[in-house]
Amino acid sequence: MAIHERIRNHALRDKVTTAEAAAAMIGDGMVVGMSGFTRAGEAKAVPLALAERAKAEPLKITLLTGASLGNDIDRLLTEAGALARRMPFQSDAGLRRAINAGEVMFIDQHLSETVEQLRSRQIPGVDIAVVEAVAILPDGGIVPTTSVGNSASFAILADKVIVELNLSQPLWLEGLHDIYIPQRRPARMPIPVVTCDSRVGLPYIPIPAEKIAAIVVTQNHDSASTVLPADPETAAIAGHLTELLKHEVRAGRLDETLAPLQAGIGTIANAVMHGLIESPFHDLRMYSEVLQDSTFELMDAGKMTFASGSSMTLSAACTERVMADFARYKPKLILRPQEISNHPEVIRRLGIIAVNTALEFDLYGNVNSTHVAGTRMMNGIGGSGDFARNAWLSVFVTKSTAKAGAISSVVPFVSHVDHTEHDVDILVTEQGLADLRGLAPRERAPLIIANCVHPDYRDMARDYLDRATARGGHTPHLLDEALGWHQRLETAGTMRQ
Ligand code: COA
Repeated sequence: MAIHERIRNHALRDKVTTAEAAAAMIGDGMVVGMSGFTRAGEAKAVPLALAERAKAEPLKITLLTGASLGNDIDRLLTEAGALARRMPFQSDAGLRRAINAGEVMFIDQHLSETVEQLRSRQIPGVDIAVVEAVAILPDGGIVPTTSVGNSASFAILADKVIVELNLSQPLWLEGLHDIYIPQRRPARMPIPVVTCDSRVGLPYIPIPAEKIAAIVVTQNHDSASTVLPADPETAAIAGHLTELLKHEVRAGRLDETLAPLQAGIGTIANAVMHGLIESPFHDLRMYSEVLQDSTFELMDAGKMTFASGSSMTLSAACTERVMADFARYKPKLILRPQEISNHPEVIRRLGIIAVNTALEFDLYGNVNSTHVAGTRMMNGIGGSGDFARNAWLSVFVTKSTAKAGAISSVVPFVSHVDHTEHDVDILVTEQGLADLRGLAPRERAPLIIANCVHPDYRDMARDYLDRATARGGHTPHLLDEALGWHQRLETAGTMRQ
């Protein structure tokens, strides 16, 4: 009965099959586009059947998703040797190891760009899409689940679509999504999103029923979010950011409703958003890619009126709360394709305050979000670049040290650049905040050292800057020492002198 209620095209009911039979449609060397964005709404059964097959026969695919996957799917596919190429984002320890060993080719990409490149045939097209759904409509339209990510364009562009109908995903999700696909160039019109709550598309992915090659019924849940609770350092970061935003209000650049907020993935950005509960701001809106626990905590505290994202990635406790009271939350939520949630045009139009997390930043404001010691991939740039370059205010946060103080997160020169100094307005650590707007490199560096560097590293940073400045230059550096702190970490296990 539950299946009939969800497969509303009678003819398609004959397409229900096993995960193994559906996975058999995926051939060696194919490009596969799967749903899933930051552990939400991923296909859960077909990838596992694919991993089993890859253990027994030669099978390597290029796997495209929205972002990271839950249920250990990236790990299981990696261990089975099923991944030749992976894009545009991941956050799995096993896949990370394989990427850094050169076993899987990882294309780390701005999340808004993947489907643009597919649509314009700049990268090989998707042979088959595997999309998790709440329901299939009479005309074949697919209602996605807890994420949209790249699913809509994968399904539209693929030759065939496998639908994973997940009975554990609640039917109330229907109506939450807003699927808008930009027209092909050169006839593209402006994207009509003008406020966070603009609904401009369809509540389902429009594909013809004939394209659906198989339907696999599943019951598995999304993985719970792994973010850790706020700690004194993240609370201090939130405090500094709140003070800055109060200053913006006093200066008349913002009112107390601020501007639409974007928050990056992970523990720190989630904790920083959580910190706004104690702030004087109200009627906040979010235009972000991942809606984390903090979004719902701000709604519960009466601080946030609307949130637009591409996925909902929540802890177990938050999932339970939202599921139990969905009627209250649903009118305040939209899930969009990631090319729309992260679109430069919309981000610039809305004037977003973007808060993303750095692994490290340097004395002039360049940010590394992805590469440990310049070489080893962590997760990927995700949407941080989409937002940072186009935001009204681009903020990067990080703790001032990592690994029990052996690493300074503020270094003379970043060992890899994801966000250049031109894209970064504000830097925040638990030590304090540096407002870089309107400052030249020679003005930025002393401010960053005084406000953001951990006291254990402050004298080292000043010494580097003094000697570099004596040599001159618009952006003074000692090229032979610029990566010296990283080199010491590699050889001595600490950046400390
Ligand atoms: N060098 C080496 N490791 C570092 C480091 C540095 N400078 N700074 C932090 N780390 C390590 C931490 O020790 C921690 O390691 P662990 O997992 O072994 O404990 C790990 O990186 C995560 O750091 P944490 O402090 O817990 O922060 P986080 O969960 O907020 O994640 C990023 C931080 C940068 C990894 C994460 O935000 C990210 O992947 N960002 C890039 C993508 C992005 O910004 N997307 C947002 C767009 S919506």
